[in-house]
Amino acid sequence: MLRTLTIFTALIAGLAVTPAWAQKELPEGPGKQATVRVCTPCHGAEMFTATRLGKAEWDAKIANMTTERGTAISDADFATVLKYLSTYLAPETKQEGK
Ligand code: HEC
Repeated sequence: MLRTLTIFTALIAGLAVTPAWAQKELPEGPGKQATVRVCTPCHGAEMFTATRLGKAEWDAKIANMTTERGTAISDADFATVLKYLSTYLAPETKQEGK
């Protein structure tokens, strides 16, 4: 019984390890800092690390965060964040950021 329990616990612990596809970290690159600063006060980066959008969609997404959710963002930050997101979280980029 104890043995079964040990195996069971090990299985659960194994499940808790984050699978590769559930990427939580933003890829390294220019604009990452600004993106973290602008986009993570309300929710974590995991809200959008797995999202893959084209430039127009990211533009709309950031605009939506601004108008609907009250994100404060300067024009310079908007441009930096848009460039970062549409470069590193583009549809053609793989989840691993390669
Ligand atoms: C002022 C607070 C705030 C800031 C700053 C913010 N968000 Fe959000 N965001 C929200 C809220 C509220 C939700 C909805 C959360 C929920 O549905 O649980 C959300 C949801 C999202 C979602 C998932 C739902 C959707 O509409 O697609 C994405 C993607 C997202 N945010 C991206 C961003 C990005 C990118 C930035 C930076 C430009 C950002 N957020 C900055 C408040 C914010």
